Amino acid sequence: MTHPARPQWLRRPDNVAPGLAYGADYNPEQWPREVWRDDVRLMREAGVNIVSLGIFSWAKLQPAENAWRFDWLDEVMGLLYDNGIAVDLATATASPPPWLTAKHPEILPVNARGETIWPGGRQHWRPTSPVFREHALALVEKMAARYAGHPALTAWHVSNELGCHNVYDYSDDAARAFRDWLQARYTTLDALNHAWGTAFWSQEYSDWAQILPPRLAATHPNPTQQLDFKRFSSDALRRYLRAERDILHRHTPDVPVTTNFMVMGGTKGMDYAAWAADVDFVSNDHYVEPGPQAFDELSFSANLTGNIAGGRPWFLMEHSTSAVNWQPVNVAKKAGELARDSLTHVAHGADAVCFFQWRQSAAGAEKYHSAMVPHAGADSDVFRSAAALGATLRDLAPVAGASREQAPAAILFHWESWWAAEADSHPTDRLRYRQEALDWYTACLNLGIRADVVPLGTPLDGYSLVVAPMLHMVTEAVAKDLRGYAEAGGHLVTTYFSGIVDEHDHVWLGGHPGALRDLLGVRVEEFAPLLDHETVTLDDGLSATLWTERVQVTGPDVAVLSCYTTGEHAGHPAVTRRTVGEGSAAYVSTRLGSRGLTAVLDGLARAAGVTSELPLESRGDVELTVRRRGAERFAFLVNRTDRPLTVSDLPGEPLLGARSTQGELPLPARGVRVVRLA
Ligand code: GLA
Ligand code: GLA
Repeated sequence: MTHPARPQWLRRPDNVAPGLAYGADYNPEQWPREVWRDDVRLMREAGVNIVSLGIFSWAKLQPAENAWRFDWLDEVMGLLYDNGIAVDLATATASPPPWLTAKHPEILPVNARGETIWPGGRQHWRPTSPVFREHALALVEKMAARYAGHPALTAWHVSNELGCHNVYDYSDDAARAFRDWLQARYTTLDALNHAWGTAFWSQEYSDWAQILPPRLAATHPNPTQQLDFKRFSSDALRRYLRAERDILHRHTPDVPVTTNFMVMGGTKGMDYAAWAADVDFVSNDHYVEPGPQAFDELSFSANLTGNIAGGRPWFLMEHSTSAVNWQPVNVAKKAGELARDSLTHVAHGADAVCFFQWRQSAAGAEKYHSAMVPHAGADSDVFRSAAALGATLRDLAPVAGASREQAPAAILFHWESWWAAEADSHPTDRLRYRQEALDWYTACLNLGIRADVVPLGTPLDGYSLVVAPMLHMVTEAVAKDLRGYAEAGGHLVTTYFSGIVDEHDHVWLGGHPGALRDLLGVRVEEFAPLLDHETVTLDDGLSATLWTERVQVTGPDVAVLSCYTTGEHAGHPAVTRRTVGEGSAAYVSTRLGSRGLTAVLDGLARAAGVTSELPLESRGDVELTVRRRGAERFAFLVNRTDRPLTVSDLPGEPLLGARSTQGELPLPARGVRVVRLA
């Protein structure tokens, strides 16, 4: 991605077999040396062939400003190599040591209220601090120079989860960097004043030096200032990522560089669709959030990660063998979930599967976080399940290197619409961008329709159906693309609060949904969000929450698919569909949730000619994904339910699982099967 000649996947050490990579974060600095030997023995037993090393080792590697200690890391690297375990080596910059923050408190981040974020946890550094950068990059130089030729080195792991805790820093360093970023974006203050709408509330700037991050204000800070600060903050971390990466590339042009993204749940601050250009291959961390859509959310995240990676294989850098330690209630995984969760990532293109972490800590903030070797030791269900997964991944070696096969449907994902739609001072603060997208994804899973979750900007030709949920920010160029897609025969579906603002968060005038109004053939004069206790019903029996509006049909060829039957807009359209050239553009004006959307999507998908590729009895219960290498295709079947199932009518040779004598494929509760398609 960064350079055509760069390796785009792990460099394979001479003593590691080809296939899928399997392992964990390994933190040997938490343990006495005697434990290391036991670690590598158990790693071999579990089928581990890769670990991420050194992520939080800064204080051990550089105990004082001019003191360096690499002997212990040399020993661990050697031990791993001798045991056929590749090393994804971290640059160790994630958590600055106490000597550094004591000497240079000016690297500590500051929140919107002006409060210092103190050391004591981790990632207490300003992404824009020149002092932090100087010290961190010196460490990167040392690491790169020392381990450049090491035979175990398979990839570089920049920092760790950039932006997990420090994406928004409001310090004076941030203010300076924000001004530079704004100058590069707008060139003139006039352009900035226009974009930010500073005529409102007497906010015109007459000097760049007057501009600040959106610090705690008397009331809602300027929305475009907030939006630009989000863009800037994501970019500032990217810039830091590139600074580390460039050093690593200089020392080891043949070793790929990655960093672990957090495409999961509510992690919102980093626009990973843009970040993908800065790494040699994409890595992701994913943790399950318990609840009725837990599995669907995992699949959604893995799917989006795979598409951010351009369909090419990616690295699941972290997930958990069982409970985490940072949720209000940390639920242990149920039988079968460890393998199912891992293999669902593989189904969506992961060629490396790693856990946080290898050995469960005895001390520290994560001592109750699960690991491959739990407190109970290797004589445990968790370790046995992890070792069984290692064997399964060995059997799946033929899948390694296969890309995602494009699905018939797509769901668009757009970070800036997420940021803009959920900003303050809006018609309702209950809008949840990612939840809306996830509900559409659940609807696809319920119908057994294969869908790709793709970043906005992905070419849409080849998709028969494209859903753009809550695509709030639509530029002229995006509106043109979506129109072109429908005119060329594509079937577009969009929802409430889409097409409302341009790239500066200025409302498109003349009626909603602004930029998409003509394409959809509808016009809305006023939003009518609902209170939490309110619901309305539709004439097809569905019930809706959160949002309504008076939808007027204004364009030609618009069919009203359903109307409101209760509430202020009873008798008026709720869902419409306009024929556009060979294609169509449909509009869903309210929140139907995953059950309602399943019903709506069923009709829209049929009209678009999109049907499930699964046998009838498996639809809804089984998730189907396909990976492909040339003419070779691998179907992954994941049981979404807690019941054993049977899949019939799927020709091909099982790579994981076995057919019954009747030729059917039994799929255990929470099980995964892989078939090489005929
Ligand atoms: C993140 C971090 C890890 C660990 C896990 C715990 O993913 O990268 O160091 O803290 O969370 O879930
Ligand atoms: C107050 C202010 C106005 C405006 C309204 C909005 O009345 O004086 O400027 O902000 O609130 O409700």
